[in-house]
Amino acid sequence: MGLLHLTDTQQEIQRLARDYAQRELTPLAGERDRESRFDRAMITQMAELGFLGMLIPEQYEGLGLDAQSYLLALEEIAVGDATAAVTLSVHNSLPTQMILNFGNDAQRQTYLPRMARGEWLGAFALSEPEAGSDAGSLRTQAVRDGDHWVLNGTKAWVSHGNEAQVILCMARTDTADARRGSKGISTFILTPDLPGFHLTKKENKMGLRASPTLQIVLDNCRVPADRLVGEEGKGLTYALGSLDHGRLGIAAQAVGIARAALEASARYMTERKQFGKAIAEFQAIQFKLADMATRITAARTLLHTAAAAKERGERVTRFSSMAKLFATETAMWVTTQAVQIYGGYGYVTDYPVERHMRDAKVTEIYEGTSEIQRIVIARETLAAAAAADGSLPD
Ligand code: CAA
Repeated sequence: MGLLHLTDTQQEIQRLARDYAQRELTPLAGERDRESRFDRAMITQMAELGFLGMLIPEQYEGLGLDAQSYLLALEEIAVGDATAAVTLSVHNSLPTQMILNFGNDAQRQTYLPRMARGEWLGAFALSEPEAGSDAGSLRTQAVRDGDHWVLNGTKAWVSHGNEAQVILCMARTDTADARRGSKGISTFILTPDLPGFHLTKKENKMGLRASPTLQIVLDNCRVPADRLVGEEGKGLTYALGSLDHGRLGIAAQAVGIARAALEASARYMTERKQFGKAIAEFQAIQFKLADMATRITAARTLLHTAAAAKERGERVTRFSSMAKLFATETAMWVTTQAVQIYGGYGYVTDYPVERHMRDAKVTEIYEGTSEIQRIVIARETLAAAAAADGSLPD
């Protein structure tokens, strides 16, 4: 990890997260996966360490960390348990940031301290059964009725939707004028106690099985008018802007999953003997390890370069998509190599690498598929080339 020049604070948070992950997360990650069990006690422990308020400023009781510290912590948590990392990434990068950046004072005061303390877990509801990659085509409607909005529709793939107390939901407020398209979408703060809020389908997933994924049906769900976030009609921009940050979190999660597979493989190679010697002595296996380690370091370096740019206040849409694309494809590739190194033992649940491979897959899908990341990168690169007369040093 020597390539990154970390400050004392960054090293401290990295150490804190690593010690916690090794002590508390790694030992039970397999059991949680087998039982598909969301571990609320684990959330409480992480909240006590401040991990639920990593990006919330101190004035709202958060840690107020810089982006790199946050991502270092997420990586360590993901090494221990990828499901803990996705819970932290969604909560820290999306709902809390949307309230912080686009909410009003009253909303910040009401929600952020409780979210920082982990009393309230945040979720993000953008996708719908018919609107995944094409987020702007979402159909959930919000119609104003006096001092309420009435929401009708179905939100899909909501991470920990049944465990969350605060759900940032995108819905169409301009239902009359089809030409307004994505401009007619607004953001609302939902809570599960609202009339007409129903948790329906819980998905039976290939990986990240300890992180529940829910469908939410809004059936004449009456939402107080003061739950509208920011300006009416800006909801899609808020959501996609927040995903710039969310995607860095998923990239950190992917680096962590890949590292868990690399560390397990390095241990296994020295223990497993074939043809009279440890398989670590065979170059075919050494080369796999070398490629795994190189790609992980490249992914982490890209991620932290993007995070540093974000910290400087630069627009990171392109680099965040690059980091997400590269880190998640790295995680999938590295975990597949790990299963191969373990051979038959990699294919059974006695060892953790099959779980790492299953967990890695979804990182190429959620918060924008690899194909969507490539679209974003291509668009942004073309725009940058046009603005810079075709010269693109980075
Ligand atoms: N930051 C700020 N605003 C942005 C933005 C960004 N990065 N990207 C787009 N916008 C704005 C645009 O400027 C535009 O605003 P105006 O209408 O005011 O001009 C508006 O948002 C719509 O943008 P586009 O015209 O570019 O929209 P599009 O329909 O052509 O496609 C897309 C955009 C890139 C394909 C986008 O829909 C996308 O990213 N899709 C993937 C959706 C996604 O990532 N979903 C993740 C679900 S959440 C999840 O998985 C969380 C979880 O639980 C783990």
